[in-house]
Amino acid sequence: MVPFDKLRARHGPRSLKRTHTCGDLTAKHAGKKAVLTGWCDVRRDHGGLVFVDLRDRYGKTQVVLDPKKIRQAKEIRPEYVLAVSGAVRKRPKGMENKKMATGAVELAVEECAILNRSPTPPFEISEEKEVSEDLRLQYRFLDLRKPKMQKFLILRHQTAQIVRNYFSQKGFLEIETPMLTRSTPEGARDYLVPSRVQAGKFFALPQSPQLFKQLLMVAGFDKYFQLVKCFRDEDLRADRQPEFTQIDVEASFVEREDIFALVEGLMAVLLKEVLGVKIKTPFDRLSYVEALWNYGSDKPDRRIVWKIVDVSEIFQKSPFKIFSQAVAGGKSVQTLKVTGTGVLVRKDFEALEALAVRSGARGLGWAKLTKEGWMSPIAKNFSEADKSALVKELQLKEGDAVLFVADEKNLACAVLGTLRLELAEKLKAIDTARNDFCWVTDFPLFEWSALEKRYVSVHHPFTSPHPDDLSLLAGEPQKVRSQGYDLVWNGSEIGGGSIRIHDRALQQQVFEILNISSADAERRFGFLLKALEYGAPPHGGIALGFDRLVMLLSGADSIRDVIAFPKTASATCLMTEAPAEVDARQLKELHIQTTR
Ligand code: AMO
Repeated sequence: MVPFDKLRARHGPRSLKRTHTCGDLTAKHAGKKAVLTGWCDVRRDHGGLVFVDLRDRYGKTQVVLDPKKIRQAKEIRPEYVLAVSGAVRKRPKGMENKKMATGAVELAVEECAILNRSPTPPFEISEEKEVSEDLRLQYRFLDLRKPKMQKFLILRHQTAQIVRNYFSQKGFLEIETPMLTRSTPEGARDYLVPSRVQAGKFFALPQSPQLFKQLLMVAGFDKYFQLVKCFRDEDLRADRQPEFTQIDVEASFVEREDIFALVEGLMAVLLKEVLGVKIKTPFDRLSYVEALWNYGSDKPDRRIVWKIVDVSEIFQKSPFKIFSQAVAGGKSVQTLKVTGTGVLVRKDFEALEALAVRSGARGLGWAKLTKEGWMSPIAKNFSEADKSALVKELQLKEGDAVLFVADEKNLACAVLGTLRLELAEKLKAIDTARNDFCWVTDFPLFEWSALEKRYVSVHHPFTSPHPDDLSLLAGEPQKVRSQGYDLVWNGSEIGGGSIRIHDRALQQQVFEILNISSADAERRFGFLLKALEYGAPPHGGIALGFDRLVMLLSGADSIRDVIAFPKTASATCLMTEAPAEVDARQLKELHIQTTR
């Protein structure tokens, strides 16, 4: 048994129950008694006195210990957990710390308990030094002690509260949907969970609650939302995690504009309450084609003013055969004018060409307008008429550069879209003071997958075709637009949704175009097809990427920074070392044999 006085030393005397947090004390508390608890952030030994910055999630307070009276003073090290009591006093004149909320005062310690000790941490919590992310993730419990990380998670909590209040006030119900379910077709691989009871059968973790929220509409819950975990086994990037959170929304008897207004209202409240920023609503709507042809992306970052311009007409009769022949062959010549290119030299354009080729182009033409004239490997082949037409069409001035891609229009635009982002970053041409929101609409319903040799859904198979394009479904499915939409904030796709199919026959037809046989559709989605027969109301919805939203609201660089315990890019948790091997007995119970 641990002797009582040792326990008392470890856990502190009863009287050392905190009266204030480390962010509370100000000059108005001077002369009062207080008890604080927290972690030793930094410890300084000065002229026989020990100064400790005590930290908790509310802030830091300087506490002063006299080792002659407080025997523990000399023992204290960073990350020790302390409880201290004493008198609050104003700091001597000139010793105030304006950067700290509590910087006007300090606590003169009369009693101190070391509640717990810590070895030297693998990185300092008190300083914003560059630490490898792997180490941070391995010691996430320490990483999360950093005030910056705590701010992110506090902001995440506040955002969730605002979201819940917003939807609740509008009559939406938060309803949970299962985590152990069947495969849901959002286009990624599933995480599977083997069933012990049903040998050889598996649950899939939901890629989204898509089908359940539609079933809730059939059930009459006409306004639903949920902050919900989704699981997708896909290639990870800075804005993707294998398990992430969505603000999932669905409503009955709505049109696209109702969903837009609902989400615009939410974004306006979030930006006002979290950032103190007023945004303009309604947001601009851009068709998919407009977005692609102007910005080279279906998530355009319109804080960059440069736009793609089609100059095929100019080059129709050009002596420059590569361009004129491309146009004659039904392809196009697309350009991007870039301004403020003073720093760009030949080598930079060559690097851009390499990027263009990696992005699918056969090459990249470029020209820079300098004092000495056109600096370009291709402009010498242009006629004077080509050049003056270009200058006029693109309003070229000295210092501008033009990038050219001759190819099939969508491909050429997409390549220029990639270069546009790359160059804007490099030339600091992004207006970061601006918040740009837009809806991208009128996506194609299907795209051809060369890999699978079949049409696949651009959104998901439950997205309704555009009513004006229904007649194209049977003969020219590639031309059918969908009633899907994405919400884009500063070039990030933060949400996607659609008006759904609520008619069984139409749903069946879409499955057929996707090459999902009736038997297959029945097996995988029979429950949905059945529900559509029983009075399914017209409905639609959206899901917003909650982690992405919090990342953008907080200014974090990666969604990993706004998730308490995220996974690495190779989908592992460095702290718990998951995924991990399991006992042979567990595998046996689950009727599973592994091959390695
Ligand atoms: P979608 O697949 O577009 O739609 O997802 C909605 C939003 O979720 C975010 N998101 C992610 N965030 C982090 N990590 C990921 N791996 C990840 N994948 C997606 C994005 C995206 O815009 N059921 C439909 C919604 C609907 O139709 O209502 C769906 O899930 O911000």
